[in-house]
Amino acid sequence: MEVISCLSEMQKSSLQWEREGKKIGFVPTMGSLHLGHLSLVDLVRDQSDLVIVSIFVNPTQFAEGEDLEKYPRDLERDLLLCKEQKVDYVFTPRTEDIYKVNASTYIAEKSVSEKLCGQSRPLHFKGVTTICAKLFNLCRPTFVALGQKDAQQVSVLKRMIEDLHFPIEVIVGRIVRETDGLAMSSRNVYLNDTQREDARLIFQALIKVKKLVVEEKTINVDRLKEELMKVLQQGNSVRVDYAEVVNRNTMRIEEGNISKESLLVVAVWVDSVRLIDNMDLSNE
Ligand code: PAF
Repeated sequence: MEVISCLSEMQKSSLQWEREGKKIGFVPTMGSLHLGHLSLVDLVRDQSDLVIVSIFVNPTQFAEGEDLEKYPRDLERDLLLCKEQKVDYVFTPRTEDIYKVNASTYIAEKSVSEKLCGQSRPLHFKGVTTICAKLFNLCRPTFVALGQKDAQQVSVLKRMIEDLHFPIEVIVGRIVRETDGLAMSSRNVYLNDTQREDARLIFQALIKVKKLVVEEKTINVDRLKEELMKVLQQGNSVRVDYAEVVNRNTMRIEEGNISKESLLVVAVWVDSVRLIDNMDLSNE
């Protein structure tokens, strides 16, 4: 496994692989790797000649006062995990190279990113689309693997890839969960024991709604949201940011009855830790 930090070296290499007809699998991350990330590596490896994982804590997707400074970082551990997972290249660019002082170009998606997380974190997706466009240009992936936990991010990036004609296929990896059901996230380390107890309610709430749909054929969106809230409200430290049924492609909020494309999405604060999760209401 090779670690590349230099932008021009990364781009020169990936252009060469492209010329040789190699299929490049790419997993963009902010490090602090967990089984969710590693499952994405497995997902692209089968169809790729080589796999690149990028590790870059992207400052532009954090707003003032968010957790950029305290975001967990452990490059040594991450590199070890990548090696064990048979990653070929780890790309670790420096912030000052990615964002030159005189840089003034950003990419903003203007529809899929507007609601939900885009409403609570107004500049977040602009940071995500900008960094991903840069990484795509530097790593030239054939496939990019993204995790379903960040459902809105997946839809926003799919839209950007389509709108900007990146020749990239998106592969979506299923949500990987801890044994208690909590979706794996680098931010889970922020939770103390009591908060962790409350965080478990998220999956319990999603499962309850799924059961209502599958077993009791409940299809009314308001009724489903009501049941979801009942479970979430059992947590003293839980404050719901949003809980919606959306169309999984457009992220448009659904009303009335659920459809074949319905996705239940939630974002909750457990004290000061913001967690997101989702559940496919059609066929999961
Ligand atoms: O999901 C993440 O870790 C980040 O948003 C991403 C896609 C690596 C962009 O910084």
